[in-house]
Amino acid sequence: MFAARRALTGAVQRRAFTASARDLSKVTVLGAAGGIGQPLSLLLKLNPRVTDLALYDIRGGPGVAADISHINTKSKVTGYDPTPTGLASALKGAEIVLIPAGVPRKPGMTRDDLFNTNASIVRDLAKAAAESAPDANILVISNPVNSTVPIVAEIFKAKGVYNPKRLFGVTTLDVVRASRFVSELKNTDPVDENITVIGGHSGVTIVPLFSQSSHPDLVGDATLLNRVQFGGDEVVKAKDGAGSATLSMAMAGARFAESLLKAAQGEKGVVEPTFVDSPLYKDQGIDFFASKVELGPNGVEKIHDVGKLSGEEQKLLDACLADLKKVNISKGVAFVAENP
Ligand code: NAD
Ligand code: LMR
Repeated sequence: MFAARRALTGAVQRRAFTASARDLSKVTVLGAAGGIGQPLSLLLKLNPRVTDLALYDIRGGPGVAADISHINTKSKVTGYDPTPTGLASALKGAEIVLIPAGVPRKPGMTRDDLFNTNASIVRDLAKAAAESAPDANILVISNPVNSTVPIVAEIFKAKGVYNPKRLFGVTTLDVVRASRFVSELKNTDPVDENITVIGGHSGVTIVPLFSQSSHPDLVGDATLLNRVQFGGDEVVKAKDGAGSATLSMAMAGARFAESLLKAAQGEKGVVEPTFVDSPLYKDQGIDFFASKVELGPNGVEKIHDVGKLSGEEQKLLDACLADLKKVNISKGVAFVAENP
C-alpha cells in the first residue's frame, strides 16, 4: 500500500517536473546591444513564455540586461560580455538563439555588401552555438540572410550537430511589411492581411504571393511589389546613414520567436514563412528556400510547397531561384570551405 502510494507520488512528481521543464524557455540574443538587439530583447522580456533571457554582445550586453531586468515580468535576465566563458554561458541551455549581430547597410549598399564583415561574425557565433547549444533553434537575422543561413548550416555540419529542422532565416519582416502595405492600399486592418512571402530575403528573391491572398487583384501592382521587395531600402534611405530597420525587425523577430515557443509548447497549426533547408528546389541545386513552414516541438514540422502561382508570380519565382542559385547560397557555403 505504501509502496503503491510512493510509486504514484513519484509518477506525479515526475510528470510535474517534466511539464515544468518543458515550460522553461531560455532565449539567447547574440548582438543584444545593437539597434535590433535592444528592442528585440525588450519584446522578449515582455513575453511570458520566456523564462530566461540571456543577452550577449561584444560590448554593452550587461548594461542592456541590467536595464531590461527591472521590468516587472517573471523572466530572469542576464547580460554577458566576451569574457572567456561569456558566450558559452549565454548559450548553455538555450531553446532559441536569435542572431542579430553584425553590421547594417548604409545608403547605396546592397545586403550582399555586408557579406565580408558579417560572414565571419556569424561563422564564429555559429561555432559557439554548435558547441554550447547544439539542440537550440537558431534564428538568423544578420544579413545577407540568404548567405548567412548556409554559413550556420556548414558550421553545424562540420561540428557534426547539424539539424536542418532547427535552423531558420528570419524573413518575417517581409511578411509584416507585405501585410501592412496591402492594408494601406485596401484600407483594411493589417491583422487580417495574411500575405505569404516566399524565396529569400533580398531584392528579387523576396516574392509575395498576392494571388493567394484575399486581394488577387494586387498581382501586377508594380509599385506594391517594389515596396515589398525593397522595403529595407526605404528604411535605409530614410535613416540616412544611421542604419537599417531595427524596430520593425525587432517586432518581426519577437513574433517569430513567439511562434516557435507556442509550437514547442504544443500549439498546433503554427505556420510562418521562413528560409530553411528545404526539399522544394534541391533538384535545381537550391538547398535553402523560404516558404510557409509549420512549426512544432522539433522546430520544422512541415514545409509547405509554394502552391498555385499566377503567371507573373511564376516569373518572379524564376528570377528569385536564379539569384539564390547563382550567388547567395553557394557564397555562404564557399566562405566556410575557404575560412573554416
Ligand atoms: P547594429 O550595428 O545596430 O547592431 C549590431 C550589434 O551586433 C552591435 O551591438 C554589435 O556590437 C554586435 N556585434 C558585432 N559583432 C558581434 C559579435 N561577434 N558577437 C556579438 N555581437 C556582435 O546593427 P542592427 O541594425 O541591429 O542590424 C544587425 C544585422 O541585422 C545587420 O546585419 C542587418 O542587416 C540585419 N537585419 C536583418 C533583417 C532581416 O529581416 N533579417 C532586418 C533588419 C536588419
Ligand atoms: C530589411 O529588410 O530591412 C533588412 O534586411 C535590413 C536591410 O538592409 O534592408
